[in-house]
Parts: sequence; C-alpha cells; structure tokens
Amino acid sequence: MTLLWREEMCVGQVDIDGDHRQLIAIINDFENMAQRLPGDRTLHETLIGLHDYAAIHFDREEAIQAACHYPFHAPHKQQHQELLASIKAMARRYFIDRTDPVTKESLAEVSRFLRHWLVDHIIKSDLRMREHLKNLPPSFRLPD
Ligand SMILES: [Fe+2]
Repeated sequence: MTLLWREEMCVGQVDIDGDHRQLIAIINDFENMAQRLPGDRTLHETLIGLHDYAAIHFDREEAIQAACHYPFHAPHKQQHQELLASIKAMARRYFIDRTDPVTKESLAEVSRFLRHWLVDHIIKSDLRMREHLKNLPPSFRLPD
C-alpha cells in the first residue's frame, strides 16, 4: 500500500518537510519497482539512492537543529549515524558478502524495515523538533 504524506507529519520547516516527502517517495518507488522487477537491481539502486539522500537530509537536519539549539541534537545525530549504518549493513549482506539472496521475501523484509525506519524517524523522533524550530533565527539559510 502506498505511503501517503499527511499534514501531521509536518515539522514546520520547509527543507525538512520537503526531504521527508522525498524519503516517502523513495520508499514508494522501491515498493512499486519491487512488484514489477523483484531483483538485485531494484534493491541495489534503492539502497544507494536512500543512503545518499538520507545522508544529505541528515546533514541538513543537523544544521537546522544546531541553529535552533535543539536540546536532543547529540542523540538525534547518533540515531542518524545508526540509520546510515543499517543501510550500509544491508547493502553489505546482499551485495558484498552475499550472505542473503535477493528474493521476494527479502524485498518484503526491506520494505518493512524502510517503513518502520520512516515512521520511527519522522513520527517519533523528528516531530519532537517541531516546537524547537520556532527558535530558528529568521535569517537562517542552509548552505547551498
Ligand atoms: Fe528527518
């Protein structure tokens, strides 16, 4: 079932909300592709795309948190590092060590992981930022 963006997911900062929408799109694209082409390439491209986009998003989010003096900045950063490490560990299992074959079941497992990751990251963790984002200086701009 397609993941849908909901207003309750907004943290109220345009860059972060835009990134979260994009992360949802990456997961939806993966699930659509996994239905049509359930093979190595689908998973490989998704893990690379997700890792690269998540790394950019996490940098942005951490810069914004620092600018608004978010009190949970350090544990949040730690969580980001753990998420990137789990994506890398998955890529290693499937494509470097090849301890796990890419099957329909493994694609479904990755899909569950991504959904859980997203819900955990956005709903539970990022939404805590909402009220602190009011402390963001009006002149704050992310570097290009
Ligand atoms: Fe986030």
